[in-house]
Amino acid sequence: MMTEERDVLFTEGTIRNRVGELALQISADYSHVDDLLMVGVLRGCFIFLADLSRRLTIPRSIDFIALAAYDKMTTATGEVRLIMDLRADVRGRHVLIVEDIVDIGYTLDYALSLLRPREPASLKTCAFLRKPARLKKKLQIDYLGFDIPDIWVVGYGLDFRDRHRALPYIRTLPAGWSASPS
Ligand code: IMP
Ligand code: MG
Repeated sequence: MMTEERDVLFTEGTIRNRVGELALQISADYSHVDDLLMVGVLRGCFIFLADLSRRLTIPRSIDFIALAAYDKMTTATGEVRLIMDLRADVRGRHVLIVEDIVDIGYTLDYALSLLRPREPASLKTCAFLRKPARLKKKLQIDYLGFDIPDIWVVGYGLDFRDRHRALPYIRTLPAGWSASPS
């Protein structure tokens, strides 16, 4: 299927600019920190984290956790499972959790409650997208790319049933598009 201009929420250029702004802000805020630990929440974060981490001007390490939620297109149980834990010890370190999108908020809430008891020196959050209309958890997002309406979006790491992650832009998912190649 063709991508029409009206289906695209954020073009490659818009994404690149916003990631640059976030990187500037984060680099300034952590300029006193000699080793920021970025913790990506797999799998959706992988492209955003790759871009963001390369544009920081401060020393940083990268680690990942993998979380799995229920199938959000059909149910909303709030159940989140830990698939893979961190390799790094976060005690005493400055930790920035990096998420692709905050929808209801269960995933980021889970990540925070997983890491907080491990006593990092600081714990902050960065999400590229947020759907404020759906958010049920009271969550602080310290660095946010964009707020978006309550629609399903794909591209730039975001999937629909594990497809369309590699699209360089962020677009809506038209009905019936899941079966077509990305
Ligand atoms: P939450 O736990 O409801 O906040 O959901 C967060 C997770 O759901 C994200 O990390 C994504 O993996 C996934 N998700 C939520 N909305 C979308 C979307 O519009 N497109 C792709 N994935 C989404
Ligand atoms: Mg995610």
